[in-house]
Amino acid sequence: MNQLKKAHTKYPVLELIQNRWSARSFRTDKDISMDDLYTLIEAGSWAASSSNEQPWKFILAPRGSEQYQKVYDALMDGNKPWCKNAAAFIVCLIRTQVEKTGKDNFYAMHDLGLANSHILLQATSMDIACHPMAGIDKNKLIEVFNIPEGIKPAVVIALGYLDEAQKLEEPFLTRELTPRNRKSLEEIIM
Ligand SMILES: Cc1cc2nc3c(=O)[nH]c(=O)nc-3n(C[C@H](O)[C@H](O)[C@H](O)COP(=O)(O)O)c2cc1C
Repeated sequence: MNQLKKAHTKYPVLELIQNRWSARSFRTDKDISMDDLYTLIEAGSWAASSSNEQPWKFILAPRGSEQYQKVYDALMDGNKPWCKNAAAFIVCLIRTQVEKTGKDNFYAMHDLGLANSHILLQATSMDIACHPMAGIDKNKLIEVFNIPEGIKPAVVIALGYLDEAQKLEEPFLTRELTPRNRKSLEEIIM
């Protein structure tokens, strides 16, 4: 585990939570197997959701696939340099309306967040580094993947096996070497 990035908590939390962080330097010589990608999605699929609606959808884009290049091309410029060695991307989408009623699902983004939290923690437990990103051209994703009405891209997760921070250029190198921080509990408990 990367000690520099480990969360130092005042109160005891799961080690898995302490160890998850948003990494940027990925190995080029180790791919993530399709079975492992399916394990991550399976973990996500067991998240809680409002009325068990499960409003999440995913596009898997392992290195070397046609999907991978399409996702990479849709990343914002600030994410492209450190994402170039990602072993896979997962595009995370929501169905915006409740299936049975057709009404807007206020909780869709919330529930995708829960599923993604499962995915990130499951990946951490498998020593797969991951990094969620909103810095993507969502309209481009809709176009290149022919995403139908009612389904909206939300974030992309970059994944891979961790490599040395020193392989990154600035400003990503500094970010990779900066300890993580959080607001205090006093600030967030109202
Ligand atoms: C919805 C969402 C969008 C994010 N978008 C980006 C992004 O576009 N680029 C990036 O480098 N990091 C992005 N991040 C990562 C955050 O910056 C990161 O989670 C935060 O700084 C806390 O660091 P940690 O995940 O290592 O604890 C995003 C995270 C989330 C949850």
